[in-house]
Amino acid sequence: MPLALITGASAGIGRCFAEALARRGYDLILVARSTARIEALGRELSERHQVRAEAWTADLASDAGREDVAARIAALPRLDLLVNNAGFATTGKLQKIPLGPQMDMLRVHVMTPMRLCHAALPRMVEHGAGAIINVSSIAGFLFGPGNVNYSATKAYLTSFSLGLDTEVRSAGVRVQALCPGFTHTEIHTEMPHIKRQIPAWMWGKAEHVVETSLRQLERNGAVICVPGLLNKVLWRVLTMIPRGLRGTLAVRRKRSSG
Ligand SMILES: NC(=O)c1ccc[n+]([C@@H]2O[C@H](COP(=O)([O-])OP(=O)(O)OC[C@H]3O[C@@H](n4cnc5c(N)ncnc54)[C@H](OP(=O)(O)O)[C@@H]3O)[C@@H](O)[C@H]2O)c1
Repeated sequence: MPLALITGASAGIGRCFAEALARRGYDLILVARSTARIEALGRELSERHQVRAEAWTADLASDAGREDVAARIAALPRLDLLVNNAGFATTGKLQKIPLGPQMDMLRVHVMTPMRLCHAALPRMVEHGAGAIINVSSIAGFLFGPGNVNYSATKAYLTSFSLGLDTEVRSAGVRVQALCPGFTHTEIHTEMPHIKRQIPAWMWGKAEHVVETSLRQLERNGAVICVPGLLNKVLWRVLTMIPRGLRGTLAVRRKRSSG
């Protein structure tokens, strides 16, 4: 049976990855802080799909949690798929919001995926097979007030994935930067205004994000995966606008909308 490790498997997109991969016959390692949730999900998926599931509790914002997961990955005889999905969002101008969560964001969105790729890759390259999905965001192509650290961490993750692909593709390892748009999950629970501000037609389902990602990976598609037609159009348009101008337009839009 192939083996997949998913960070942030207790909710949202990560939970959907666990379900979709169990349906495909993967054994699972589920990583998150909420032990009870990943243990319950593991039991449920084991019973339903006859796969094996382990729960590894870890706070990936802490050096100890990240290093523990990295060491356990390095000790695995084989890992077929690593899904670096754990993440969270905040809102507000950088100068006005608490520093702690912004530092944690760098640890969870930047340091952890890089560290876990570093731990997983030697075995994947040795076997000449394996895949890594880094869950980035369409926000990584955007510049605008109110979300700068989130966007910047996701820009890193997309750029990191594109570069990593050039290093490992010839060794048989595939890398994907998954860049969803607004998706119904728990990430916006603490930010109800986002749900009010963003029109309903801009929101997608986590199941669709995950199926698009896995299908693109299975057919050995492009490194960047943007689920949903609307998001694809937005992404194409954004990448045609010079980077400097993208920020200026966002500020003008914000001013004109008050
Ligand atoms: N939803 C969207 O609109 C959207 C759009 C683009 C990209 N994304 C990206 O998709 C990924 C998944 O987000 P989601 O929308 O599915 O959010 P979610 O429903 O809130 O799930 C986030 C997951 O990350 C885990 N996590 C958060 N901080 C962690 C930490 N310090 N250590 C370990 N695990 C941690 C959470 O588990 P515990 O709380 O149990 O630790 C949870 O399983 C994120 O990287 C996010 O940036 C989301």
